[in-house]
Amino acid sequence: MKILVVGGGGREHSIACALARNPRTEIFSVMAKRNIGIALLSKKILSAKETDTAKIVGFAKETGTEYAFIGPEAPLEAGIVDALEAAGVACIGPTRAAARLETDKAFCRELMERQGIEGCPKYRVFYNTEEAGAFIRESEGDLAIKPIGLTGGKGVRIMGEQIDREGAIAYARTLGAGVVLEERLIGEEFTLQAFVDGNHLIPMPLVQDHKRAFEGDTGPNTGGMGSYSMPDHRLPFVTDGEYQKAIGIMRSIVAAIERTGQPYKGILYGQFMNTAKGPKVIEFNARFGDPEAMNVLSLLTSDLSEIVQRIVEGTLRITDAVFEQRATVCKYLVPEGYPDSPRTGLPVSIGDHPDTLLYYANIEEKNGSLSTLSSRTLAFVGKGESLEVAERAAERAASSVWGGVRHRRDIGTRTLLDKRIAHMKELR
Ligand code: AMP
Ligand code: GLY
Repeated sequence: MKILVVGGGGREHSIACALARNPRTEIFSVMAKRNIGIALLSKKILSAKETDTAKIVGFAKETGTEYAFIGPEAPLEAGIVDALEAAGVACIGPTRAAARLETDKAFCRELMERQGIEGCPKYRVFYNTEEAGAFIRESEGDLAIKPIGLTGGKGVRIMGEQIDREGAIAYARTLGAGVVLEERLIGEEFTLQAFVDGNHLIPMPLVQDHKRAFEGDTGPNTGGMGSYSMPDHRLPFVTDGEYQKAIGIMRSIVAAIERTGQPYKGILYGQFMNTAKGPKVIEFNARFGDPEAMNVLSLLTSDLSEIVQRIVEGTLRITDAVFEQRATVCKYLVPEGYPDSPRTGLPVSIGDHPDTLLYYANIEEKNGSLSTLSSRTLAFVGKGESLEVAERAAERAASSVWGGVRHRRDIGTRTLLDKRIAHMKELR
């Protein structure tokens, strides 16, 4: 089968690797910046912006591609699925209207509220920034201040953590296009990703991402510095009841979207805050997480190409998506200065990295040498019978990289996990 992978990051490299495990699958790819890992797996590459739907449709037709797997959110917002499906290419990814679940935070909250879906924090939407400022001034507790649209995970500011009340008012004023103000949720975050075929929702192992740039969860928010998952596919600070509740919320949101007349086929990503009152929705994404895709796809023993076919047919069963019962730790290397002022063009060389998977992201290869670009550079995934084993492998590999990059050494360590468990215990 011929499948087009849209996107050129670490997430898409892991998607392409999982698809390529089927020797009958032919991979075609579209990326703005050449990803050397995806390039090695691709039969043909279109070098174009991932939002250039006309060019992408033309390329799909020219290559006779039957399926497309959409990695990032920007092409979903640009309507790539609508355009490809009109041209007869079946997509893993929702239509533009259904992707509003991710691309329009006001739409998402209003849908949750209207349909009575559990896990919705208290929120208000403002299109007038002066009114938003006045609301912040009079509100009692801390708030999360969010631009309505996409910001690559870097647009949210948390009052009481990153900014004070005056800072929050000033920040809201800069968000001209509209702002969502939410109660600040306190707890531990987790990611639940699922395959959705329009009829069935098949959950994948839970993952915890690390958004903050520096060790100990300090510094600015990033696209994600790394993530881990456990051998039992759960997290020790999420009870069985909380896990089932999160799955129920995901099922309800898919049903709600389908009631708006939009089928949902693709990946649904739920980001939850586990609070003293159970899991609350931070956001939904209409695609795999990056890095979280790398954790789960490194464990998938089933054929992703077959899963793609079954999603398109609407016949996906739980037995079609089997994951190894092992822990994973993913560590991203990022350019010095990332995310505020990343240094590009710095040389990078990769050392020995036994027992890990290497996923390339935003890295340039010229005359056989590698150098940094402005986004996350590359990632290693260690796998093991325990978190400790997986962490050791990922850490050893990440430390073997020489050059203008850094990583968070604490991701996937027992110390960090124990801190999460203790925090949750204290809240309960
Ligand atoms: P988002 O871009 O929506 O993923 O948000 C980025 C980060 O902001 C999340 O990973 C959370 O750490 C934090 N965040 C978002 N919404 C809230 C909230 N209502 N309460 C507390 N933290 C939040
Ligand atoms: N890792 C968070 C995201 O992909 O949005």
